[in-house]
Amino acid sequence: MPATAIPATTPFAEHKRADLLAMAAAMNWVHAIDLGDGVVTPGLWGRGNPIIEKALLDIDWHGKKVLDIGCWDGMYSFLAESRGAAEIYATDLVNQRDYADQPTFHVARALLNSKALYYPQMSVYDVESIGVRDFDVIIFSGVYYHLKDPVRALTILRRVLKAGGQILVEGAILEEPGCFAKFYYRELFCGDRSNWWVPTVDCLKQWVECSFFQIEREYERWGHGENQRHVIVARAVVGHDPLYSMVPEDLQQYSGFEEDVASKPVQSLWPAFLGWDPVRVVRNLWRKTA
Ligand SMILES: C[S@@+](CC[C@H](N)C(=O)[O-])C[C@H]1O[C@@H](n2cnc3c(N)ncnc32)[C@H](O)[C@@H]1O
Repeated sequence: MPATAIPATTPFAEHKRADLLAMAAAMNWVHAIDLGDGVVTPGLWGRGNPIIEKALLDIDWHGKKVLDIGCWDGMYSFLAESRGAAEIYATDLVNQRDYADQPTFHVARALLNSKALYYPQMSVYDVESIGVRDFDVIIFSGVYYHLKDPVRALTILRRVLKAGGQILVEGAILEEPGCFAKFYYRELFCGDRSNWWVPTVDCLKQWVECSFFQIEREYERWGHGENQRHVIVARAVVGHDPLYSMVPEDLQQYSGFEEDVASKPVQSLWPAFLGWDPVRVVRNLWRKTA
């Protein structure tokens, strides 16, 4: 059962700017957020992967409803808001990262007079509990390789994005040919125990595509040493995917076929390599015209 969303709170809304800046100065930041008046948070990662910012700036944010997954200090949520996004749902699972006790997002939010809603205890697996199913844009940056089940996460994100909506996927990749992901449990990726799955680019693309997204843009590689990063922008689609023999239940509503499960016995008689099932096609046509 998905967790129920704890309503977003705004704890520092009444604080004076000078007090908030003093709080900010005493905190640990990973993002470099411009708080105005020449103050930029001393983010450990600076502006991070510059290619993410480039991809974010290619998105038209005006009036958009945005979901940011694993937002940490919130730099990308605030960027989206500054570019005209109308509603921001910034989520994180702070117990999965350092400095969980420091309310950096809340402090930055108050200093920027941001309207972004913040859910600090919201796993990506639970975002359906927010109750919004028509997001325009999802920012899924720096998170999938921290998950034990990245494909399930992509399914859930497809379920809350409206058809035609966009998702930005960013993360670590293996610079090797082929379609596979490596699982890190005994071995460490980049010396970090919070990393689980690191895919090749082809694998990452297939994870995205099999979740009813169509890849629109890919950006140039960026990284240092083992930590190579890839950025994809994809659009949520609806329609028949001939590469599926049976669409899983949680994605069926996007498949264009209503009875993928019901057709299983018939489908299994048809060679999968042919990519489509004439019996099912005829049955669907008949249903649509009946
Ligand atoms: C590498 S940081 C990325 C931060 C930010 N999105 C960025 O790109 O700069 C990973 C983030 O994922 C979050 N995270 C880890 N597991 C998560 C989960 N199951 N659901 C949601 N967020 C998660 C962490 O709390 C952390 O904020």
